[in-house]
Amino acid sequence: NDSGRIVLLPGDGIGPEVAAEAVQCLRLLSDAYDLGLVFEEHDFGGAAIDAHGVPLPETTLAACRGADAILLGAVGGPKWDDSAERPEAGLLKLRAALGLFANLRPARVMHGLEELSPLKSHIARGADILVVRELTGGLYFGEKVIRDDAASDLCHYSRTEIERIAHVAFCAARERRCRVTSVDKANVLATSKLWRKIVIEVSSAYPDVALDHLYVDAAAMALVTRPTQFDVILTENLFGDILSDEMSVIGGSIGLLGSSSTGDRGPALFEPIHGSAPDIAGLDRANPGGAIASAAMMLQSLGFAAQAEMLDRALERTIGEGCRTADLGGGIGCSAFGSRVREILRSDLVRHEASLQ
Ligand code: NAD
Ligand code: IPM
Ligand code: MN
Repeated sequence: NDSGRIVLLPGDGIGPEVAAEAVQCLRLLSDAYDLGLVFEEHDFGGAAIDAHGVPLPETTLAACRGADAILLGAVGGPKWDDSAERPEAGLLKLRAALGLFANLRPARVMHGLEELSPLKSHIARGADILVVRELTGGLYFGEKVIRDDAASDLCHYSRTEIERIAHVAFCAARERRCRVTSVDKANVLATSKLWRKIVIEVSSAYPDVALDHLYVDAAAMALVTRPTQFDVILTENLFGDILSDEMSVIGGSIGLLGSSSTGDRGPALFEPIHGSAPDIAGLDRANPGGAIASAAMMLQSLGFAAQAEMLDRALERTIGEGCRTADLGGGIGCSAFGSRVREILRSDLVRHEASLQ
């Protein structure tokens, strides 16, 4: 088995802490099931600025291109906020270089764990949302001008960019509850007018999927008042960034959300949606759940669906039995949480072996 070359980009702040827990889970599963995963770590983000002067060194990019999948922690931090090229620029370059235009961010309120939500339980109960965020266009990648007294960012979208992300959302909806809500600002923005028109065109190929549209301001409100009305949210880069952080806490914490980024040239990248959390970095207080969920998404995409499900279930059970990090109101550390997930995995392995005898 040689289809499991994983490039690890731990990055900065809590990135290395949460990535380490996810990797240990992956190693355990790879050893137990002979998945043949091999890991290769590379400098990225602020750590790469310190070591090489740039956030995305050529060696790191080359390794990513040659990998079967990439697992990223997080990048950024106050130390590099004034550097010529920030750590975050490295992440944007990597997404662009690998053509990772489709970012999938699933969030849900776990059954029986409505108490973890900042929303009232009866509002949060059953919420299960997938944000499909366009990741290589829009304001992030348009021409930027910055002068002393004025600045601008160009928002640009082409038909092709909108069509391909819309197809991703409709296909994803078919695996879920067959409902897409496209979020835009078509009452104001030209790019949103084109977005809405093309999404409607693409929808005709998916008559079994219900489509509706919301303006982004109304969507932000609906997420916290009627979160269960959503299935798949399809939106552009910046709106997706903002709405997915808002959505993430419906289930309890941003620390729980993983994501996959896929494209048309090169391997997929898996990363928690949170950042480097400088306020808790180095304190063993981070929730590694999002990194572990990202690792499960990676297993799924590598074709190891059974192991992906085992990992997801172990993660959910860990939280369900009350093992919680500070962001979820508990007192468990990052590494103890990861250890508990692996304990559950090991006991599942034993049970699995027993059932084979
Ligand atoms: P953040 O996501 O790092 O943190 C926001 C808040 O959530 C903080 O209070 C933090 O402690 C908490 N938090 C985040 N992840 C957590 C986890 N796993 N467990 C427990 N609590 C968690 O966002 P920010 O503070 O706005 O940004 C910090 C840095 O991270 C910035 O440099 C930013 O650019 C960068 N960033 C990077 C990524 C990425 O690498 N993909 C994503 C977002 C932000
Ligand atoms: C994310 C982050 C990034 C983004 C930043 C760090 C460039 O917030 O992955 O959500 O805005 O896409
Ligand atoms: Mn973000």
